[in-house]
Amino acid sequence: MRIAVFASGRGSNFNAIAKAIKSQKIKASLALLICDNPDAAVILKAKRFGVKTFLIKRADYKDKPDFENKIIQVLQEEKISLIVLAGFMRILSNDFVLRFKNKIINIHPSLLPAFKGSHAILDAFNYGAKVTGVTVHFVDELMDHGPIILQQALKIEENDTLESLEAKIHKIEHRLYPEAIRLCVQARLKIKGRKVHPALH
Ligand code: GAR
Repeated sequence: MRIAVFASGRGSNFNAIAKAIKSQKIKASLALLICDNPDAAVILKAKRFGVKTFLIKRADYKDKPDFENKIIQVLQEEKISLIVLAGFMRILSNDFVLRFKNKIINIHPSLLPAFKGSHAILDAFNYGAKVTGVTVHFVDELMDHGPIILQQALKIEENDTLESLEAKIHKIEHRLYPEAIRLCVQARLKIKGRKVHPALH
Protein backbone atom coordinates (compact mmCIF):
# COMPACT_ATOMS: atom_id res chain seq x y z
CA MET A 1 0.00 0.00 0.00
CA ARG A 2 1.27 3.44 -0.93
CA ILE A 3 0.88 6.10 1.76
CA ALA A 4 0.98 9.91 1.56
CA VAL A 5 1.56 11.99 4.69
CA PHE A 6 0.18 15.54 4.72
CA ALA A 7 2.03 17.85 7.13
CA SER A 8 2.63 21.57 7.64
CA GLY A 9 5.12 21.85 10.48
CA ARG A 10 7.69 20.14 12.64
CA GLY A 11 7.10 16.62 11.38
CA SER A 12 7.75 14.60 14.53
CA ASN A 13 4.84 12.31 13.63
CA PHE A 14 6.12 12.06 10.06
CA ASN A 15 9.44 10.97 11.55
CA ALA A 16 7.83 8.29 13.74
CA ILE A 17 5.82 6.95 10.80
CA ALA A 18 8.83 6.96 8.45
CA LYS A 19 10.87 5.05 11.07
CA ALA A 20 8.12 2.44 11.54
CA ILE A 21 7.92 1.92 7.79
CA LYS A 22 11.68 1.76 7.37
CA SER A 23 11.96 -0.89 10.08
CA GLN A 24 9.03 -2.76 8.46
CA LYS A 25 6.81 -2.52 11.54
CA ILE A 26 4.37 -1.16 8.98
CA LYS A 27 4.51 -3.07 5.72
CA ALA A 28 3.73 -0.25 3.32
CA SER A 29 5.50 2.33 1.25
CA LEU A 30 5.82 5.95 2.36
CA ALA A 31 5.50 7.31 -1.15
CA LEU A 32 4.88 10.98 -0.64
CA LEU A 33 4.91 13.99 1.68
CA ILE A 34 2.43 16.72 0.80
CA CYS A 35 3.41 19.97 2.50
CA ASP A 36 1.80 23.41 2.22
CA ASN A 37 4.51 25.34 4.06
CA PRO A 38 7.92 25.93 2.44
CA ASP A 39 9.52 26.63 5.86
CA ALA A 40 8.30 23.44 7.54
CA ALA A 41 10.93 21.28 9.23
CA VAL A 42 9.10 18.20 7.97
CA ILE A 43 10.55 18.82 4.49
CA LEU A 44 14.08 18.15 5.77
CA LYS A 45 12.88 15.03 7.56
CA ALA A 46 11.37 13.70 4.32
CA LYS A 47 14.63 14.38 2.53
CA ARG A 48 16.53 12.42 5.18
CA PHE A 49 14.25 9.41 4.64
CA GLY A 50 14.37 9.81 0.86
CA VAL A 51 10.63 10.49 0.69
CA LYS A 52 9.45 12.46 -2.32
CA THR A 53 7.99 15.84 -1.30
CA PHE A 54 5.32 17.74 -3.12
CA LEU A 55 5.26 21.34 -1.85
CA ILE A 56 1.96 22.98 -2.61
CA LYS A 57 1.24 26.54 -1.53
CA ARG A 58 -2.37 27.64 -1.28
CA ALA A 59 -1.38 31.16 -2.44
CA ASP A 60 -0.29 29.77 -5.83
CA TYR A 61 -3.85 28.66 -6.65
CA LYS A 62 -6.84 30.83 -7.43
CA ASP A 63 -9.19 29.02 -5.06
CA LYS A 64 -9.49 26.02 -2.77
CA PRO A 65 -10.94 23.66 -5.43
CA ASP A 66 -8.01 24.48 -7.71
CA PHE A 67 -5.54 23.83 -4.89
CA GLU A 68 -7.19 20.54 -3.94
CA ASN A 69 -7.49 19.41 -7.57
CA LYS A 70 -3.74 19.67 -7.90
CA ILE A 71 -3.31 17.55 -4.76
CA ILE A 72 -5.77 14.98 -6.14
CA GLN A 73 -3.84 14.83 -9.40
CA VAL A 74 -0.59 14.13 -7.53
CA LEU A 75 -2.25 11.48 -5.33
CA GLN A 76 -3.60 9.73 -8.42
CA GLU A 77 -0.26 9.87 -10.24
CA GLU A 78 1.42 8.38 -7.19
CA LYS A 79 -1.29 5.71 -6.76
CA ILE A 80 -1.85 6.62 -3.12
CA SER A 81 -4.25 4.43 -1.12
CA LEU A 82 -4.01 5.98 2.34
CA ILE A 83 -3.75 9.66 3.31
CA VAL A 84 -2.23 10.30 6.73
CA LEU A 85 -2.74 13.79 8.16
CA ALA A 86 0.07 14.59 10.58
CA GLY A 87 -0.23 18.21 11.66
CA PHE A 88 -1.65 19.37 8.31
CA MET A 89 -3.04 22.72 9.39
CA ARG A 90 -5.56 23.14 6.62
CA ILE A 91 -9.17 22.04 6.54
CA LEU A 92 -9.95 19.78 3.58
CA SER A 93 -13.19 20.46 1.72
CA ASN A 94 -16.20 18.14 1.96
CA ASP A 95 -15.66 17.18 -1.69
CA PHE A 96 -12.09 16.12 -0.99
CA VAL A 97 -13.05 14.15 2.13
CA LEU A 98 -15.95 12.38 0.42
CA ARG A 99 -13.82 11.50 -2.57
CA PHE A 100 -11.40 9.69 -0.26
CA LYS A 101 -13.92 8.34 2.21
CA ASN A 102 -12.31 5.95 4.72
CA LYS A 103 -8.92 6.62 3.14
CA ILE A 104 -7.93 9.65 5.24
CA ILE A 105 -6.81 9.37 8.85
CA ASN A 106 -5.83 12.07 11.33
CA ILE A 107 -4.11 12.35 14.69
CA HIS A 108 -5.32 14.83 17.26
CA PRO A 109 -3.70 15.64 20.62
CA SER A 110 -6.78 15.26 22.83
CA LEU A 111 -9.41 12.69 23.69
CA LEU A 112 -11.94 13.61 21.00
CA PRO A 113 -14.61 14.90 21.04
CA ALA A 114 -13.02 17.11 23.72
CA PHE A 115 -10.71 19.97 22.73
CA LYS A 116 -10.96 20.08 18.94
CA GLY A 117 -8.95 22.66 17.01
CA SER A 118 -5.34 23.63 16.59
CA HIS A 119 -4.37 24.25 20.26
CA ALA A 120 -5.76 21.14 21.89
CA ILE A 121 -2.94 20.56 24.38
CA LEU A 122 -2.96 24.18 25.55
CA ASP A 123 -6.76 24.19 25.72
CA ALA A 124 -6.89 21.04 27.88
CA PHE A 125 -4.13 22.41 30.12
CA ASN A 126 -5.78 25.82 30.54
CA TYR A 127 -9.17 24.25 31.14
CA GLY A 128 -7.75 22.37 34.09
CA ALA A 129 -8.66 18.96 32.67
CA LYS A 130 -7.43 16.09 34.82
CA VAL A 131 -7.27 13.67 31.89
CA THR A 132 -6.47 14.26 28.24
CA GLY A 133 -4.86 12.10 25.57
CA VAL A 134 -4.45 11.33 21.89
CA THR A 135 -6.94 10.21 19.24
CA VAL A 136 -6.40 8.69 15.79
CA HIS A 137 -9.53 8.70 13.64
CA PHE A 138 -10.87 8.42 10.11
CA VAL A 139 -11.64 11.85 8.71
CA ASP A 140 -15.18 12.84 7.82
CA GLU A 141 -16.67 16.18 6.76
CA LEU A 142 -16.38 17.75 10.23
CA MET A 143 -13.19 19.09 11.81
CA ASP A 144 -11.33 16.66 14.13
CA HIS A 145 -14.22 14.25 13.73
CA GLY A 146 -14.91 10.77 12.38
CA PRO A 147 -14.80 7.11 13.42
CA ILE A 148 -12.14 6.56 16.08
CA ILE A 149 -9.35 4.07 15.39
CA LEU A 150 -7.28 4.34 18.58
CA GLN A 151 -7.27 6.51 21.68
CA GLN A 152 -4.95 6.73 24.63
CA ALA A 153 -5.72 8.65 27.78
CA LEU A 154 -3.15 10.54 29.85
CA LYS A 155 -3.51 11.88 33.36
CA ILE A 156 -2.51 15.53 33.79
CA GLU A 157 -0.48 15.62 36.99
CA GLU A 158 -0.50 18.49 39.50
CA ASN A 159 3.10 19.31 38.68
CA ASP A 160 2.75 19.13 34.89
CA THR A 161 3.69 22.25 32.96
CA LEU A 162 2.48 22.92 29.44
CA GLU A 163 5.88 21.79 28.20
CA SER A 164 5.90 18.53 30.16
CA LEU A 165 2.36 17.79 29.01
CA GLU A 166 3.27 18.46 25.37
CA ALA A 167 6.24 16.12 25.65
CA LYS A 168 4.08 13.33 27.12
CA ILE A 169 1.39 13.81 24.45
CA HIS A 170 3.92 13.69 21.61
CA LYS A 171 5.50 10.55 23.05
CA ILE A 172 2.09 8.87 22.96
CA GLU A 173 1.45 10.13 19.42
CA HIS A 174 4.68 8.66 18.12
CA ARG A 175 3.63 5.20 19.30
CA LEU A 176 -0.10 5.42 18.60
CA TYR A 177 0.00 6.74 15.02
CA PRO A 178 2.28 4.03 13.60
CA GLU A 179 0.14 1.44 15.39
CA ALA A 180 -3.08 2.83 13.86
CA ILE A 181 -1.49 2.91 10.40
CA ARG A 182 -0.38 -0.69 10.85
CA LEU A 183 -3.97 -1.70 11.63
CA CYS A 184 -5.20 0.18 8.55
CA VAL A 185 -2.63 -1.43 6.30
CA GLN A 186 -3.49 -4.87 7.63
CA ALA A 187 -7.21 -4.17 7.04
CA ARG A 188 -7.98 -4.94 10.68
CA LEU A 189 -10.37 -2.04 11.17
CA LYS A 190 -14.14 -1.90 11.04
CA ILE A 191 -16.49 1.06 10.82
CA LYS A 192 -19.96 0.21 12.09
CA GLY A 193 -19.21 -3.48 11.75
CA ARG A 194 -17.91 -3.28 8.17
CA LYS A 195 -14.30 -4.01 7.39
CA VAL A 196 -12.32 -1.07 6.01
CA HIS A 197 -9.43 -1.52 3.66
CA PRO A 198 -8.30 1.76 2.09
CA ALA A 199 -6.69 0.05 -0.93
CA LEU A 200 -9.96 -1.58 -1.93
CA HIS A 201 -11.91 1.65 -2.35
C1 GAR B 1 0.55 16.91 16.51
O1 GAR B 1 0.55 17.09 17.90
C2 GAR B 1 -0.83 16.59 16.02
O2 GAR B 1 -1.58 15.84 16.93
C3 GAR B 1 -1.41 17.98 15.83
O3 GAR B 1 -0.36 18.69 15.24
C4 GAR B 1 0.88 18.24 15.79
C5 GAR B 1 1.88 18.05 14.67
O4 GAR B 1 3.15 17.80 15.21
N1 GAR B 1 -2.59 17.97 15.03
C6 GAR B 1 -3.67 18.69 15.30
O5 GAR B 1 -3.75 19.47 16.22
C7 GAR B 1 -4.85 18.46 14.35
N2 GAR B 1 -6.00 19.15 14.78
P1 GAR B 1 4.33 17.24 14.30
O6 GAR B 1 4.46 18.22 13.12
O7 GAR B 1 5.53 17.28 15.17
O8 GAR B 1 3.97 15.86 13.86
